[in-house]
Amino acid sequence: MITRNDPCWCGSAKKWKKCHYPEVKPLTSFEEKAAYYKKKHNILLKTPEQIEGIRQSCKLAAQILDELCKAAVEGVTTQELDDLAIRLTKEAKAIPACLGYGSPPFPKSICTSLNEVICHGIPDDRPLQEGDILNIDYTCILNGYFGDCSRMVTIGTVSKERQLVVDVALKCRDDAIAIIKPGVEVYELADVIEDVAKSYGCSVVYQFVSHGVGVKFHEEPQIFHHRNKSKIRLEEGMTFTIEPMINAGLAEAVIDEDDEWTARTIDNRASGQWEHTILVTSDGYEILTLPN
Ligand code: MF3
Ligand code: CO
Ligand code: CO
Repeated sequence: MITRNDPCWCGSAKKWKKCHYPEVKPLTSFEEKAAYYKKKHNILLKTPEQIEGIRQSCKLAAQILDELCKAAVEGVTTQELDDLAIRLTKEAKAIPACLGYGSPPFPKSICTSLNEVICHGIPDDRPLQEGDILNIDYTCILNGYFGDCSRMVTIGTVSKERQLVVDVALKCRDDAIAIIKPGVEVYELADVIEDVAKSYGCSVVYQFVSHGVGVKFHEEPQIFHHRNKSKIRLEEGMTFTIEPMINAGLAEAVIDEDDEWTARTIDNRASGQWEHTILVTSDGYEILTLPN
């Protein structure tokens, strides 16, 4: 007879308990599922009350992001966009989640990632120019709950390569979101993203991930965008982002040595990203970062 710690009969070389060990009984109640996900993966399944709080925060984040994107026109500096984000956040009695986050503390309230910048670009006094592509990433904290989203803006006419990463990153995100429902395994999201990106000759950044969000800024699970083997199953009540970063050239990111935040493509070719916060529902998903 095999016992829990013996090699699995299937030949995987894993322990039986980590492989084909039969579940004793299926998890049925929310409490059972929540306890299982917390213990096994440190993932928080959100209660109805938390979901409502996250929903409000996400809606506000999307509304503010709308305003930031409208304001992002030729001649405006990314610092002016940051100023606007601070004002709108304050008016809504919320807090900008990026300001002071991490180590070294992120110095601004939004991320503004231009052209070859993959993510975590820092607002400054450079005016937007014809031909730029810009990712604006905005996260707020409202009543203790986090909402995280980003979009691309194009300034005037942009090069074919820049437009390509804008369009492909959007399709990667939205095609990945479309398969979300309970029971889907996390690696399946990356399969969709890689397939779309490859079909347009683009590459998938592997050094940054999508992430659980809601009660904290960055929670479990980490959701890789490049092909992987994460068998974690999506479950009703999970809230996480989908935010693939797609490059025209090489996939590799290099972090700026001076500011320790700005991530650029290693070949200085274009990069695009779009982000939503998602709730897994009983039969699919709800996009939380929509403005209304
Ligand atoms: N909003 C980013 C994300 O999508 C995180 C930015 S962290 C910061 O996860 F410190 F750079 F703001
Ligand atoms: Co995010
Ligand atoms: Co974000």
